[in-house]
Amino acid sequence: MVRSSSIFTKFASILILGSMILSLDLQVSAQVKVQLSVDTSKPGPKIDRNIFGQFAEHLGYGVYEGIWVGPDSKIPNTRGIRNDVVTALKTLKVPNVRWPGGCFADEYHWRKGIGTRTVTLNPNWGGVIEANTFGTHEFMDFIDQIGSQVYLSINVGSGTPQEAAEWLEYLTTSQPTTLAKERAANGHPVPYKIPMVGIGNESWDCGGNMTPEYYLRQLTIYSRFVRNFNPAQQGNDQMQKIAVGPGGGEARWTEWTDTIMKAWEKRQWSWDMQGLSLHNYTVINWANKFASVGFGEKEYAQILRETLKMEDLITTHSAIMDKYDPQKKIALVVDEWGSWYAPSPGSNPGFLVQQNSMRDAVLAALNLNIFARHADRVRGANIAQMINVLQAMIMTDKEKMVLTPTYHVFKMYVPFQDATFIPVTFNAGTYTNSGITLPRVDAIAAKDVTGKLWLELTNVDPNEFVEIEVNVPGLNANTGSGETLTAPTVDSVNTFDAPNTVTPKPITAKIQNGKLIIKLDPKSVTVVSLGNAK
Ligand code: AHR
Repeated sequence: MVRSSSIFTKFASILILGSMILSLDLQVSAQVKVQLSVDTSKPGPKIDRNIFGQFAEHLGYGVYEGIWVGPDSKIPNTRGIRNDVVTALKTLKVPNVRWPGGCFADEYHWRKGIGTRTVTLNPNWGGVIEANTFGTHEFMDFIDQIGSQVYLSINVGSGTPQEAAEWLEYLTTSQPTTLAKERAANGHPVPYKIPMVGIGNESWDCGGNMTPEYYLRQLTIYSRFVRNFNPAQQGNDQMQKIAVGPGGGEARWTEWTDTIMKAWEKRQWSWDMQGLSLHNYTVINWANKFASVGFGEKEYAQILRETLKMEDLITTHSAIMDKYDPQKKIALVVDEWGSWYAPSPGSNPGFLVQQNSMRDAVLAALNLNIFARHADRVRGANIAQMINVLQAMIMTDKEKMVLTPTYHVFKMYVPFQDATFIPVTFNAGTYTNSGITLPRVDAIAAKDVTGKLWLELTNVDPNEFVEIEVNVPGLNANTGSGETLTAPTVDSVNTFDAPNTVTPKPITAKIQNGKLIIKLDPKSVTVVSLGNAK
């Protein structure tokens, strides 16, 4: 009796609680409702899969330990490359990996990383020993293992055009030159494919402190002599040369873009480029960076406000490019982006180790959506960096590995790779904290090659649910299904001990009369497929 009454009491309180939650929900729905229309009749450009590119620099544990453990390691590996990391990256369908830097690239001499290795230093990043065990062939093997493509950074700062030209000959020629024979002797008789090269890195700063005019001279020389000889890359599949571009929105950067683009418009037959890079990190104060964990809602709002500046930056530099290249032949390649926080306590400050939270997941989605909306010009981007460095996909500690919230976002966005951008219209509403007002909702839509429609919906608001009513005329499906990523708090992270705190959950929603109603959790990233649309 007592037991059953206590069961009853419990049951009654569950009912009361349930109805409270329900009525709360109804109130919330009444407050935060967003109508979103998808216009499949006006398809936009292709969202180039290269905007989901990665970046692996010889920096901290990014390459050594993150990718390379050596063939004798107890950590399961294939020819020295760790198997757990390869498996995780294959799921992301990584389109390209930028290597070997960053600032490191302008001090990298490729010959030290083939055959008998030369032990040297890494003065940029902690002054540690660079054993050069992970060199050209190991990188190419890694690219093969994860099923990706190469984006090679050429040393302009401390190298020579001859050194760069010989690297490309070594990699790509099918003719029996001395360099090709050396490549074959090192295990790879077949020429490699090199789809992208970057001519220098941040040449205005760590890459040699060059003026725009001085860099332009270097670019024209390197562009002339850095040739790809692979017979399979002489037609439509030619190597893309990416010039160093701006690192911000201020006057010196607009001058940089203007100088390079103006020269490109008037170029001679003997040099060319296919892309201009742009670097932009989300940092509020370089001298006193924000913490990557243990922060509150104010810091969440501050960082997201900062990251949204990517929109203006792309608009500013695209407008300059449009002046000289109205046909948008030159791609804008955001080949370094992401959050940059204070080093994790106890880590080597030169290793750029930071945690990755739900805030970073929202930040990643907002940036990917900006790139997608600029898909006509932004045809490449590389988040910094892939493993153990800055806004990483993966973190490792010896044999342990954990997938970050940012990893999950990249996985959820796979359907958007090479999909066709579809315009959406909605009133985003606002979210305000500590005097900072941000758009509450963000969204993009795209049609994949099979004709399936995909929708990404971000709820920036960390407190309120948002009910979205999606109108898609002519939609041929009864349910939408996909995944949603949220977390208990804005600073929730995945750790080696608790790896699934921020992990996607399946989501389904009914479609009736061409309308899909979907409820977004606070601070969430959601990707759903809506079936085929006309
Ligand atoms: O990603 C870390 C560093 O940031 C890169 O080496 C450099 O290009 C940029 O300044």
